[in-house]
This record gives sequence, C-alpha cells and structure tokens, in this order.
Amino acid sequence: MEDIRIGIIGHGFMGHEHEKMLTKMEGIRVIGFSDRDPEQLKDVQEGLKRYSSNDELINDPEVQVVLIAANNNQHHDIVIQAARAGKDIICEKPVAMNLAELDDMINETKKCGVKFTVHHQRRFDPDFRTIKEVYDQKSLGSIYSIKNSLYGFNGNMHDWHVYISEGGGMLFDWGVHLLDQILWMMPGSKIVSVFADVRNVINFEVDDYFKILMRFDNGITAEVELGTYYLTDKMHDKWFERHWMICGDKGCAYVDGFGPEGKIVRTSHLLTNVSGKRTMTAAGPTRSFGPPAEGTIITEELPSVSTRHEDYFENYKKAYRGEEEFLVRIPETRRVLALMEAVRESARTGKSIDFE
Ligand SMILES: NC(=O)c1ccc[n+]([C@@H]2O[C@H](COP(=O)([O-])OP(=O)(O)OC[C@H]3O[C@@H](n4cnc5c(N)ncnc54)[C@H](O)[C@@H]3O)[C@@H](O)[C@H]2O)c1
Repeated sequence: MEDIRIGIIGHGFMGHEHEKMLTKMEGIRVIGFSDRDPEQLKDVQEGLKRYSSNDELINDPEVQVVLIAANNNQHHDIVIQAARAGKDIICEKPVAMNLAELDDMINETKKCGVKFTVHHQRRFDPDFRTIKEVYDQKSLGSIYSIKNSLYGFNGNMHDWHVYISEGGGMLFDWGVHLLDQILWMMPGSKIVSVFADVRNVINFEVDDYFKILMRFDNGITAEVELGTYYLTDKMHDKWFERHWMICGDKGCAYVDGFGPEGKIVRTSHLLTNVSGKRTMTAAGPTRSFGPPAEGTIITEELPSVSTRHEDYFENYKKAYRGEEEFLVRIPETRRVLALMEAVRESARTGKSIDFE
C-alpha cells in the first residue's frame, strides 16, 4: 500500500506535534513544511523539505494532502488555495472563523472534488472516551445532566490566542473541542436551546471564560464551563476534580483531570425519603448535605478504554482509501460552528436561543 504523502503548513506548536506523530506512523509520509516565518522551519527534521512558501508546498506534485496548522484566521484562504490545486485537505480546528467562511470552503472543496476533513483528535482523549463509554453502556438509567468543566488555574493565555483578528479566545481554542465531544457523543439528538455567558475577564479582546448550557431533545441538559482566570492555590495530583460529571437516575460518574481517574457512584437503594438525621456543619445543622449513612454509597470502576490520538490518523488512512468514512465529517464541524455562533448571540443578548 502506498504511503499518503502529507505537506504541513505551519510549524508552530501543532505543526511540531504533527511532525512528531506522523513521521513515526506507518502508511503516512511527511514530505515537508512551509511557514510564513522562516525561523520556524529551522528545526524541521532532517530529510523533510523546508518550502520557501505555501505556494511551493501546495504545488509540489509529491504532496497529496495539505495539513493546515496555521493560525485560525489563515485556514479559509489556505483551504481554498489547496483545493484549487487539487490537493486533499486536513484543517486544524476551528475549521473556520465563522459559518460564511466554512460554507465557502465547503463549496470550493466540493467543486474541486477534493477530500476535506478537520483535525478533531480530542474525540480520542481518554477522559472524554471514558465518559462516552459510560454514556454508551446506558448503566446510569435516564441521564439528566452532563457537565464538563475545564479551568486554567494559573490565569494565563498565550501568543496570538489573545487577538480576535487571529481567531483567538478560548471558545475557538478549547471550546470547539468540548462542544464537538458532547455533540459527537449524542448522535441523533437535537439541541433545543442554548444559553451562554461568554466573557473576557482579564483579556482585552478575547473570551477567557464561558459557561454554555444546552438543552437536548433527549432530556439531557449539558453544561460546559471553561475559565482561564479561575484561580486556586490548591493544585493537587489529580490536577483538577470533576472534569466530567454525568448523572442519571441510576447513578452518576465522574472523571477527574485528563486521565480517566474517577468512579461510577450509586446508592444501595433509592434514598428518596429517609428519616432526617441531623449533621452539624459550619453552616449549621443539615439533613440533606451531611455524610451518607454507612453502606449507602457504592462505587464501581469506570470502564477502561483504549484510545490514542494516532487513531485519528488510523481512521484517516482507511477513509482516504475509501475503506470507511472519515470520522470527522464536515456537517458535524458546521454544526459546532453554528452552535458557537448561537453561544455568542446568547451571550450578547442575555437570552436563550432556540437552536435546532
Ligand atoms: N487539535 C488540537 O489539539 C490543537 C492544539 C493546538 C492548536 N491547534 C490549532 O492549530 C493551529 C495552529 O495553532 P498553534 O497553537 O500551533 O499556533 P502557533 O502559533 O504555535 O503556530 C502557528 C504557525 O503557523 C504559522 N503561520 C501562520 N500563518 C501562516 C500562513 N499563512 N502560512 C504559513 N504559516 C503560517 C506561524 O508562523 C506559526 O509558526 C490553530 O488552528 C489551532 O487552533 C489545534
């Protein structure tokens, strides 16, 4: 089987990650890199080409697939250029700055008959895959709540991510992954409405905090909250607790941090009405919020999942040869982008938005 020959545009953070992974993968050959900043090409691995321009990379007959790992505001023009040169395309997330840009890219890639997909490798993250497995196993009964929280406790953001014009902000950076994960986990369910708060707490231009509530037609309310200025001095080995929480009427499950550490938690029997034992707390006596009676809380291990970011490209290779579908389909990325536009509208108006 012939290798798929990939040229990569952008040798920054993500370009280096692609270089590390793809140069070791069977069935893929990285041909070389271009970058508008020649300094960035200095440490390109020996044996790979260092192109003097994107034009040169895109028009190199050796390159079959162009992988775009440049700043978000560059994706549209590079996709159009690569499509017109007849190249297949993998674009980094967020695929575009807005729906109008994406629709343009969709039209052009269709017209030129090239393959087009987006790098959403976080569909293979262990924390997410574990929660997805819990969801798929349907052992929590009727699920009413899914919560995903991600906090950058040190308060920093970096590089071009602080500029709107470059496609900065945390909604574009991590928000797009977190929303994609939740939508992909529940295929076939529609979002009835969206309510969101999006803020720039300390950054001058871009969002560094958001809370998004999505009401699904399957009865689930999903919440995603992310903040970079969410300070704490309590860093601990798990890094942060309750990264994911999923609750049904037959139990809940949580995942701490990015590792699949956590538990499924149930009660020995439904405690809908027990005699009100008082517990004294600093907030006075309580009956509902004290420790549970001995033996009433039961825990189970989370399902174990086997997942790697390489699997994104394993799918890519098969899909490229027509053996299966691309895991990340363009209509899915369009739905996420449309959702992000609804999120921004809700934040702007302070009102919930009817979505699908
Ligand atoms: N999938 C993921 O997990 C993930 C993680 C990080 C970043 N990303 C995405 O990867 C892309 C790059 O982000 P990054 O963090 O690597 O940024 P970065 O700033 O570290 O690297 C971007 C590189 O692209 C170059 N560049 C910019 N415009 C260009 C152009 N028109 N032509 C050629 N080179 C150009 C820059 O000089 C820089 O070297 C973004 O779209 C980002 O959202 C994805």
